[in-house]
Amino acid sequence: MKKLLAMVLAAVMALSVVGMATAEEKPLKVGVCIYRFDDDFMTLYRTELQKYLEETYGAEVTVVDGKNDQTEQTNQINSFIAEGVDVLIVNLVQSTAASAVTELAKAADIPVVYINREPSETDMAAWEGKIAYVGADARQSGTMQGQIVYDREDHGDLNGNGTVDYVMIVGDPENVDAQYRTEYSIKCLTDNGVAVNKLFEQRGDWDRAKGQELAATALAQFGDQIDVIFCNNDAMALGAYQAIVSAGRKVNKDILLLGVDALDECQEMVANGEMTGTVLNDHIGQSHKAADVAAEAAKGEAIDAYYWVDYQMIK
Ligand code: GAL
Repeated sequence: MKKLLAMVLAAVMALSVVGMATAEEKPLKVGVCIYRFDDDFMTLYRTELQKYLEETYGAEVTVVDGKNDQTEQTNQINSFIAEGVDVLIVNLVQSTAASAVTELAKAADIPVVYINREPSETDMAAWEGKIAYVGADARQSGTMQGQIVYDREDHGDLNGNGTVDYVMIVGDPENVDAQYRTEYSIKCLTDNGVAVNKLFEQRGDWDRAKGQELAATALAQFGDQIDVIFCNNDAMALGAYQAIVSAGRKVNKDILLLGVDALDECQEMVANGEMTGTVLNDHIGQSHKAADVAAEAAKGEAIDAYYWVDYQMIK
């Protein structure tokens, strides 16, 4: 009898060990596609995303570089699908590729969490409960940039000629973050009754070197007329700062400089008065939310279409 009991016990234990082993052998498999590794903000984002997925969910995470090429990224998505990942987290190269990506994923029944580059509303309605967008409302960041300028006593009219004469350095205009920041920074000023005058607007593709080049061109062309340089992100603002220094201008004394993201370097510059202000693009909040939503979706739970994370003014 004792022997039988021992045998039963051993069998139960063996079975539970097998059970545990199977559970352990199957960690959550996540495929992460980033539009381009060489982007300051998305580097912070993807690093935090991977770390959080591994630490919180014990996930097996593969992060790939889309090299700013949608064809390359679509190939990467196909490879992830062929490998059988449980869920995809996708920072599209082109927001308009969302419908094609959703179709591929849907055919394989793999849920998708889109991050950072917001697809259209129609595209977000294509596979209810299985696709989500996690991001920040770029209108808010634009408005905050405008508000930082408006909050000054001179409302941004540094040279006192009655208008805020500005330069706009745009990110990638295909991306709503660039469109909304460009529009809402200025809208905040005009809504408050401030007269504005656009001197220069060009795309800098979120890139520091391009930001420097464009700001240098604008400064050479318009010189002291410029009151404010708005940059759709901090990387371009860092470039613009170099151009401002080279042109012998002084931030906050005779020109204002605004960015978005709140990179560490820029937060320090705001504190030192080398930048007028920036807006925190919360990569920690966004990456954690994206990971949590991905984990839920991978379990087969229905997810919402949108999850929003707030921006925060830094001045
Ligand atoms: C924005 C961010 C930029 C750039 C871009 C990429 O939200 O402010 O710095 O990373 O996303 O899509």
